[in-house]
Amino acid sequence: MNYRHAFHAGNFADVMKHALLCRILLHLGRKEAPYRFIDTHAGIGLYDLGGDEASRTGEWRDGIGRLDEPLDEEAETLLAPYRHALAEVRARYGPSSYPGSPLVARELMRRQDRAILVEKHPEDAALLASTAQAARAGKVLPMDGWTALGSLVPPRERRGLVLVDPPYEELDELARGAGRLARAHRKWPTGILALWYPVKREREVEAALARFVEIAAPAPSTALRLELRLEPADDARLTGSGLLVVNPPWTLQGEAEILLGALAERLGRRRPSCRIEWLGGGAAPLGAGA
Ligand SMILES: C[S@@+](CC[C@H](N)C(=O)[O-])C[C@H]1O[C@@H](n2cnc3c(N)ncnc32)[C@H](O)[C@@H]1O
Repeated sequence: MNYRHAFHAGNFADVMKHALLCRILLHLGRKEAPYRFIDTHAGIGLYDLGGDEASRTGEWRDGIGRLDEPLDEEAETLLAPYRHALAEVRARYGPSSYPGSPLVARELMRRQDRAILVEKHPEDAALLASTAQAARAGKVLPMDGWTALGSLVPPRERRGLVLVDPPYEELDELARGAGRLARAHRKWPTGILALWYPVKREREVEAALARFVEIAAPAPSTALRLELRLEPADDARLTGSGLLVVNPPWTLQGEAEILLGALAERLGRRRPSCRIEWLGGGAAPLGAGA
């Protein structure tokens, strides 16, 4: 377990993932009934972009660092909950702080909603526990996120989101992750599941998504593939960021088209693009993510 998210916090992938996380939780919060948020690879919850790790890579400069100026009006409206979460965290912890997914979610969640935050790295889990306790961001489980994915769904609330955001340090982790997501979907057919994945090697992404379809055998088009590509994939570097969302809110496709389009324009390097499509090749299903 060598991956430390502190080196990457606030980069373009975080911006995409956290902005979409906000859109999904906002949708869940539109119904009074409580929901559950499960973060299977939660990280430490709070990062310092002025700290040693973030400064060494400077990745945030090409992510959140490029969002000081507003995007176009439509995109900016959709980005507002993410901006709000950022502003709250900066006000509380200082101007160079950046929230991880647990604290982003914390800003969107209501009193009746519950968060379970899973982190396997012992030191990171301890840091997360103290941050989460102070911020009342949810319960921390220091355990394996894949085991948690298998055992924590379906939650009692029957409504909610599982965010799966592994570090992809192991060979074949993407295909195996897609398979595990598909099994969780079978156990909880109405829950929203979101798997973040790196866009590096095109073939690996295609194989993993095919594996998801094969194992989930979803009703046509219950999973939305969302990708922000800063430049054409080149097999070696992280050139794009993907989020596979199972049972997305019915609003998410349209929102992603606007948001990812604007982010591609702002953050793109060379021939930036977005890929937004339903797995299985269909159109938007009726009543998806109700
Ligand atoms: C990409 S980071 C998570 C970032 C976080 N979701 C966010 O958006 O702020 C991945 C995290 O997973 C943790 N991790 C690695 N293997 C794990 C496992 N098997 N189970 C749970 N957590 C794990 C790493 O220590 C790291 O903190």
